[in-house]
Amino acid sequence: MSDTLTVFPLPTSQRVAAGDDLTGLLLDTVAAQGHQLVDGDVVCVASKVVSLAEGAVVALPPGDPRTARRELARADAAEVVAEAPWVLITRTRHGFVAANGGIDASNTPDGTALLLPQDPDAAARALREQVRQRTGADIGVVVTDTFGRPWRTGQTDVALGVAGLPALRDERGRADLDGRELEVTEAAVADELAGAADLVRTKGSGTPFVLIRGFDLAGAAAGSGRDLVRDLETDLFDRGGPTATERAIARRRTVRAFDARVAVPTPVLRAAVDAAATAPAPHGSRPWRFVQLVDATRGQLLDRMADAWREDLAGDGVPAATIERRIARSDAVLRTAPEVLLPLVDLEDAHDYPDPRRTTAERDLFLLSGGAAIQNLQVVLAAHGLGAAWISSTAFCPSTVRTVLDLPATAQPLGLIAVGAPAEPPTPRRARPGDGLLERR
Ligand SMILES: Cc1cc2nc3c(=O)[nH]c(=O)nc-3n(C[C@H](O)[C@H](O)[C@H](O)COP(=O)(O)O)c2cc1C
Repeated sequence: MSDTLTVFPLPTSQRVAAGDDLTGLLLDTVAAQGHQLVDGDVVCVASKVVSLAEGAVVALPPGDPRTARRELARADAAEVVAEAPWVLITRTRHGFVAANGGIDASNTPDGTALLLPQDPDAAARALREQVRQRTGADIGVVVTDTFGRPWRTGQTDVALGVAGLPALRDERGRADLDGRELEVTEAAVADELAGAADLVRTKGSGTPFVLIRGFDLAGAAAGSGRDLVRDLETDLFDRGGPTATERAIARRRTVRAFDARVAVPTPVLRAAVDAAATAPAPHGSRPWRFVQLVDATRGQLLDRMADAWREDLAGDGVPAATIERRIARSDAVLRTAPEVLLPLVDLEDAHDYPDPRRTTAERDLFLLSGGAAIQNLQVVLAAHGLGAAWISSTAFCPSTVRTVLDLPATAQPLGLIAVGAPAEPPTPRRARPGDGLLERR
């Protein structure tokens, strides 16, 4: 291993376009900066210029550019790994896990975005080979991009494509200072080089290439960017594990104030309803429905429910001012929430019994299944960073709800669920919410 590593930024004012000769641009830039490539040099290339040279510019779907980029990433993804109102994290078809699938919208023409390179390893190999042909120098090449990391704040550059150097330095089997055998150490050297390259440039600096001199390539078996993509079979975090499930359940809090600027992504709403539909239900029935209230229906329903509520409370002798205060408090959540769902259970498939005891038990069990479905829905919303408030309202005026929404007599409304991004982070729960609740008799 050499003692000294030198990192030279190679800025250029040249903008890259489809079909451009990247090797030519690299060699011109190296010369313009007063360097010459020699054996053992490593050149880090920003994946952005590789994509630009490949012509990987695509038109964004119409609408809000952030949403458009997210939907493009979804369409281009092998899998959605995580989704929250502010970000979509996908596994790309290359296997990289990145925010918005690594799709870049900075420094691209309006209404367009830049996809990741088709095959970053092939791009690294081609650049290395062409440098060898044109200069005779045997260099290593790393195609880099800027990624966030799970569990850590901030981004760092990582290696997407590698040629002429190892991606990993396997230290397993070697001894540590005390002579103990190292069991897991594999240094991600290509990522480390990408990180070093990023230290000498900023995003706006027009520095597509960085030259790293002094990294010891001698005798190292060459690797590829693919070496750095962890196999799903060995990824412990892929499905989260039981503790992640417990944390997700505990994260659900009733949220009554929402950030009106953040829309609820439709795919998240669908995922939450998918989860609701896995709730246990009596004798294989699927009794749950969720009505997503469009603005006009929401307004009409809340107006009619307020009338019914006024009537109930006036009948109880509650003073008019108190009634209006209570309605206003409920309206503050339900009229302003980005989305409101009406959850209901349809008793159509409930079994008929000749006596009220069993009929009531059957109905209760259907309603309980509705509660389980709503819980699932809220947990998934919370896991996606959304908040929800389950408000009783419609359960108290089922006939009004059935009339306004033209629902069958078997439909039993179970309140309303206001959904949106929380205006403030919900308060964490106390450490052991179940203390004292588990009894043995
Ligand atoms: C069936 C049901 C009806 C509820 N109705 C209301 C309601 O009308 N208004 C409200 O603000 N919260 C309502 N909540 C939310 C509870 O107040 C909330 O779950 C409770 O305070 C515990 O807080 P947490 O959900 O953050 O754990 C309801 C909850 C359930 C399960």
